[in-house]
Amino acid sequence: MAWDRTFFYDTYPRLEAAFSARLDESLAPRDPSVLLQVVRELDLRPDSRVVDVGCGEGAHAVRLATHFGFRVLGIDPVQRHLDLARAARRDLVPDISSRLAFERGTATHLPVADATLDLVWCRDVMVHVEHPDDAFAEFARVLRPGGHVVAFQAVATDLLGDEEADWLFDVMGVVPASADPRVVDDAIARSGLHVVDTIDASTEWGEWSQEQDGSGGRALLHLARLLREPERYRAEFGDAAYDAMLGDCRWQVYRTMGKLGARIDVLRKG
Ligand SMILES: C[S@@+](CC[C@H](N)C(=O)[O-])C[C@H]1O[C@@H](n2cnc3c(N)ncnc32)[C@H](O)[C@@H]1O
Repeated sequence: MAWDRTFFYDTYPRLEAAFSARLDESLAPRDPSVLLQVVRELDLRPDSRVVDVGCGEGAHAVRLATHFGFRVLGIDPVQRHLDLARAARRDLVPDISSRLAFERGTATHLPVADATLDLVWCRDVMVHVEHPDDAFAEFARVLRPGGHVVAFQAVATDLLGDEEADWLFDVMGVVPASADPRVVDDAIARSGLHVVDTIDASTEWGEWSQEQDGSGGRALLHLARLLREPERYRAEFGDAAYDAMLGDCRWQVYRTMGKLGARIDVLRKG
């Protein structure tokens, strides 16, 4: 729409305060616990066998064992993550810790026998996977018939410019194709897994975290400081840490402003 002087300096100022007040009202964004809600709706029995693909430090594996009584194998390629997850496991009550194990593995090489699992949980990992085709095929291999995948991942949207994507994906270890929603759709289709639901979480988690504790705005403020005085932070923490922090802040800001979208795929074998 073309700029209109009368609208901009006369009509709009009369609306602006009311409009801003309306925008101060929450749109009730869903928070990350929506993933647990998705699992709850699958109505799996306690003792169901689950793999947490790319479990990181194990927090979600613990939640799955605690909330649902599942037996969870967390797998991750990073030894530090496995060490931290195993250390956290040692602090848990025996009823929970006995349901948890952590092993080295990747999304394309799960240390699990064929057709033995009830659920594959894969949260915020797929963008790092070189070949999503192979990962979804691996998920199909380890699931028993009737078993499910619940996968959450970020995806690039049309708002993300090519140069922004090139820099961000390089710094954040993202395989560009794996953040392309069409590539993910194709990989799922080729796996033979049935699509139960694809939930568009859009900017909701970013809105939610800002509404909860201001962490979205904090990332924006950090980004501004990083960009204004790069040498200050490079001198203290080094170039690699500077780039990692810049990438992380941009990631969070882009998630909140929709340059990165978020999707939850719920899939079933057979
Ligand atoms: C952003 S973290 C997410 C951790 C955890 N799933 C969560 O949601 O908090 C990404 C995790 O994926 C792991 N990862 C990276 N490449 C992977 C791969 N090819 N297969 C499995 N996990 C991988 C990393 O080591 C890291 O723990």
